[in-house]
Amino acid sequence: MLLCVHFDGLTIAALSCLSIKIHPESRLSGRLDKSMSDQTTTTVKRQSLHGQWSTRMAFILAVTGSAVGLGNIWKFPYIAGENGGGAFVLIYLLCVFVVGLPIMMSEILIGRRGRRNPVMTMKIVGEEEGRSRNWALVGIMGIIAGVLILSFYSVIAGWAMSYVFMTAGGTFVDTDASQVKSTFELLSGSWKLTAFWHTFFIVITVVVVAQGVQRGLERLVRILMPALLVLLLLLLVFSMNSGYFGQAVEFMFRPNFSALTPSGVLIALGHAFFTLSLGMGAVMAYGAYLPEGTSITSTSVIVVLADTGIALLAGLIIFPVVFANNLQSDAGPGLIFQTLPLAFGHMPGGVFFGTMFFVLLSFAAWTSSIGMIEPAVAWMTESKGIKRAVAASILGGFTWLIGFGTVFSWSLWKEKTFFQGTFFDNIDYLISNIALPLGGLMITIFAGWVMCRNSTSDELNCGTGLMYKSWRFLARYIAPIAVILVLIEAASGGIVSDYLSTIGN
Ligand code: PFF
Repeated sequence: MLLCVHFDGLTIAALSCLSIKIHPESRLSGRLDKSMSDQTTTTVKRQSLHGQWSTRMAFILAVTGSAVGLGNIWKFPYIAGENGGGAFVLIYLLCVFVVGLPIMMSEILIGRRGRRNPVMTMKIVGEEEGRSRNWALVGIMGIIAGVLILSFYSVIAGWAMSYVFMTAGGTFVDTDASQVKSTFELLSGSWKLTAFWHTFFIVITVVVVAQGVQRGLERLVRILMPALLVLLLLLLVFSMNSGYFGQAVEFMFRPNFSALTPSGVLIALGHAFFTLSLGMGAVMAYGAYLPEGTSITSTSVIVVLADTGIALLAGLIIFPVVFANNLQSDAGPGLIFQTLPLAFGHMPGGVFFGTMFFVLLSFAAWTSSIGMIEPAVAWMTESKGIKRAVAASILGGFTWLIGFGTVFSWSLWKEKTFFQGTFFDNIDYLISNIALPLGGLMITIFAGWVMCRNSTSDELNCGTGLMYKSWRFLARYIAPIAVILVLIEAASGGIVSDYLSTIGN
């Protein structure tokens, strides 16, 4: 049934599940949103208050810019190293494609449906579907998570920026592993130096966010993402010739399940969320600016493939250097800062390539950091009427302050450990392994169970054939069950795997 009604000068088409469509050109006022939302299972096409991405490519680049960052190049190799390689990588890939991909599609479709910041979007779409407005809590949780992520992310990004200058100045030319390690310890152990770079990174993030995501971000990612890829490929050639490439491939791709612990499985899942920027509304906020008619499915597949490819590439670059120099694969957060400078110090043109690498890593971190506070900034501007620049500055200041917990984690508070370790270890654990998977769980339940079939198929725009059915099955069953099992597994210290092994026997 397709029923057309005129409402306040707007054409409204009621579809068979009582959904109401407003032509994309129409711009909804808050009053209209409210009146619409009183109707059950109402779905509304509205426009973002901040304009749209100029092209589909701009959106792909922006989401890839948010996804590809320190998570791929700094975090993935070190957690793969800490968790024994192969088996961990396999679980991570499974999490990315079976859990991450459907949740990314869910976030984008919810974002485009609501066309507001994640808090308002969850509230509006929840009401339109005839459900509770309390779904807004998922958006609020995401906003808090984003600020907390940025607080530690900017510290690591700060190190990357300081490595630009060290590499360019020739600090690592012809050095050995112990010199490189002590250079890293000197930097991370100096809270003043670390705080300086942390401050700088927060400032440049605020500057871009203050300008508006599309204007600030589109320009940035268009040049940087391809440049990063080219440089990574160059580094890969170096690693392939190191004589240890085979060993690295074996470490990363031969699964040794005895090296994998229940907490390793949780870390793999948490990292799937972190690396794809899922579970906290960043992708939802970007989805709000996505033009009608752009395919959410193919866009998500491209982003997930690009993100995963870059993480694997980073591993294949870093591990040959680790093995060639007898370094520890489980060196932790300092891994790339202790391995790559060694490679650069001994390769022809190393000063140039090394400098370029850290420049691009800093840029990749910059394009990711923007997505972290965009949901909060969009919420403050849309819901609280605060100017974008002011909102970005307030949030930046707040994030900067919290960041000192991480700044001190390698210096003044190095010995102050609790629960998972230092302040940084705890905040990283809380966010990556608890907050993001929980946020993702809520989002997939919302898209799979709360939104009606018509709303999601309308938004995904891929009919109701196999593609749609596969997404819905993954979003309704597989992704939520996987997240719940992994959370139970980690909280109980292995109850699920114990149970599975008794069934197996
Ligand atoms: N995906 C980013 C990375 O892998 O570095 C991290 C990230 C960015 C997480 C944006 C969350 C977010 F909103």
